[in-house]
Amino acid sequence: MKGLILSGGKGTRLYPITYTSAKQLVPVANKPVLYRVIEAIRDAGIDDIGIVVGDTAAEIQEAVGTGRRWGVKITYIKQDAPLGLAHAVKVSRDFLGDDRFVMFLGDNVIEGGISGLISEFRDSGYDSQIVLTPVENPSRYGVAELDPDTRRIIRLVEKPRNPPSNLILVGIYMFNEHIWEAVNAIKPSWRGELEITDAIQYLVDKDYNVHPYIHRGWWIDTGEPGEMLEANDLVLDEIEHNIDGYIDRDSQINGKVTVEKGAEVINSRIRGPAIIGQDSRIVNSYVGPFTSIYHHVLLEGSEIEHSIVLEHSQIIDIPYRIEDSLIGRHSIITRSPIKPKALKMTLGDHSHVGIL
Ligand code: G1P
Repeated sequence: MKGLILSGGKGTRLYPITYTSAKQLVPVANKPVLYRVIEAIRDAGIDDIGIVVGDTAAEIQEAVGTGRRWGVKITYIKQDAPLGLAHAVKVSRDFLGDDRFVMFLGDNVIEGGISGLISEFRDSGYDSQIVLTPVENPSRYGVAELDPDTRRIIRLVEKPRNPPSNLILVGIYMFNEHIWEAVNAIKPSWRGELEITDAIQYLVDKDYNVHPYIHRGWWIDTGEPGEMLEANDLVLDEIEHNIDGYIDRDSQINGKVTVEKGAEVINSRIRGPAIIGQDSRIVNSYVGPFTSIYHHVLLEGSEIEHSIVLEHSQIIDIPYRIEDSLIGRHSIITRSPIKPKALKMTLGDHSHVGIL
């Protein structure tokens, strides 16, 4: 079996973070979501992985490389325009051949990985297996309607105004060679995209065996800041307590906390679950639960909780606790002693600031 990861897309709902970086490379608990996807596929025993890339191709290739680090072989496949998930499958024809494959959206995070799913598909006679999960807001996704008696799929609809159920398609799909007939038969949807949902509906209509697997754990599509923080909460909940950095005698660590190599915690309190990245310095500060501080960050004289701070940022002498925040790379948040007493900011386009 092969793996296909979709990692195109502009990530507009994560602006301004994604002006300068691909959304799949934003770290959750200090590891980019795309790395988590590669590891999930590798852990399921698949070592031949294609990554479909778009405008952010150079950055993704630079971050992921050959795949040797994970013991897998990565092939990059260029998608010239974001014309839909089924289009991404079509442009991967040469890489996939007639092999069975799992397609995984590069911004999805799922509890428990996909080993169980892959072995079920491998040992089955299914032509396709899709992963469904119940959500509260199904209209944003592809939605499945199952027969109440047989539990077989009746119908799949992409982003319906009146969802037929609360079961939505998680961004993980398994196919055999019959998918080629389907992606070549469908036409673009109202949003101008070749929808994988329509391709799967084609398989259902032609009586191919499409098996719905209901996922009961958590799953997050990290499309926007709130979802990024939610994924961070869920992954941090599972981290190991592991101190590789330096903690001075005046500091207190409570709960599950990871302090990476080269990090320093001085006269501070860290309340887990939280992670402090490589070469970051936490000085006279408080880091509260569900916080991920990435590499080379300086936090001094400040308090932060339930937030993600990306690399090379500095937060110094802020008199209020920072919460529910996603702070991009190389950001500087400081007190400004120079009169007049005023808020002074240099913000990128699409920034959000909440002021007390
Ligand atoms: C895509 C699929 C949708 C699926 C979702 C999962 O939506 O089209 O069916 O439920 O991924 O993340 P999109 O991200 O294109 O809005």
